[in-house]
Amino acid sequence: MPYLINIKKIKKADLWERRFLQNFQKSLKNYEFGGLGEFLYEDNEGKADKVQGSNLWKKTLTDKSYYVFREEIDLISKSKKELCKDISRFFSKKDVLTFVELGGTLESTEQKTLPVINCIKKDFSLHGYVNIDYSNQHVEKTIKFVEAKLNLPTKGIVGNFVNDKIEFRDNSLIFLFGLTLGNLYEDSSKLSYKNTLAFLNKIYAMSKSGKSKCGFVLSVDSTQDIKKLEKAYNVKSLTDHSQNVFYLAKRNGVRINPSLFKTRAKWNKNLNCVQYIAEAQEDQKVTINKKVYEIKKGDNIHIDESRKIPKLDFLNILKKSKWDVINHYEVEDSDLTLYFLGS
Ligand SMILES: C[S@@+](CC[C@H](N)C(=O)[O-])C[C@H]1O[C@@H](n2cnc3c(N)ncnc32)[C@H](O)[C@@H]1O
Repeated sequence: MPYLINIKKIKKADLWERRFLQNFQKSLKNYEFGGLGEFLYEDNEGKADKVQGSNLWKKTLTDKSYYVFREEIDLISKSKKELCKDISRFFSKKDVLTFVELGGTLESTEQKTLPVINCIKKDFSLHGYVNIDYSNQHVEKTIKFVEAKLNLPTKGIVGNFVNDKIEFRDNSLIFLFGLTLGNLYEDSSKLSYKNTLAFLNKIYAMSKSGKSKCGFVLSVDSTQDIKKLEKAYNVKSLTDHSQNVFYLAKRNGVRINPSLFKTRAKWNKNLNCVQYIAEAQEDQKVTINKKVYEIKKGDNIHIDESRKIPKLDFLNILKKSKWDVINHYEVEDSDLTLYFLGS
């Protein structure tokens, strides 16, 4: 199998557990922290507990109120012809391409990424497909699927595409679907456009590390309709998905009763984001490594968020970034936009 990409620091089980406990502790010390999104996709893997992140995520995708998955598939399917023309023009015919997917899941790779790959694959020689995600399950399932469907060399990386060092050595077409750009914050106090710009420029710098040419396909959700957002993000499987962290904490030795929290999604208009907030239903004590945290009934712990960057703001960020905007694609009745950027 060819060597496609190199990540120096990958997720190691013990490090990951330590980081989870540190972040969980930070959330109890500072309720605004919110840096638990990375841990929400864990599954129970045969253990007798309620940690079911990926299963709950999968269930969400078919919920009628969760417009996000549905509208994005529709946007990709309606823009595919134009996008594929742009991609084929951007690279030259003799280019050998590697597909790099950031945060691919089986469902999204099948319904969003594969249709794009299928419509351009005849124009290029293909080197391989790489998926980088923090979830083991997402990486494994996607890789198996792509191998079977495309008969391409694949590489799965369980890692963090924001913090890990990534080098693109080939001409690459990078995909970031699922509006993940709106979730790339470790700490809600750092929830600023500077972060978004830094992420875009980081991917740009990495795409240039091997003097390669890269295209970047990503989608952004600018929905600001509170009713639509709160309905979509309060579907039970998604609030359970956030509540997952309390069960994960229990699995990792924290003395906690997860059922004493109730998680819901709330629109924060100052930050243009939907935040998952867990409200304590009773006074209680949570113990981590002998340290006891007193939590009062009604305390609100911020778990995670999904940012909805208004269109003009995102265009301004793009202008400041090092990427060239090759084209963008929109459809009626949706505030999602698909972008094709080039380096
Ligand atoms: C909102 S989901 C989107 C999933 C899928 N791409 C889709 O279109 O439905 C975000 C995905 O990205 C992964 N993810 C988010 N931030 C990440 C990061 N910094 N490093 C690695 N994976 C990340 C999550 O594990 C999850 O699979």
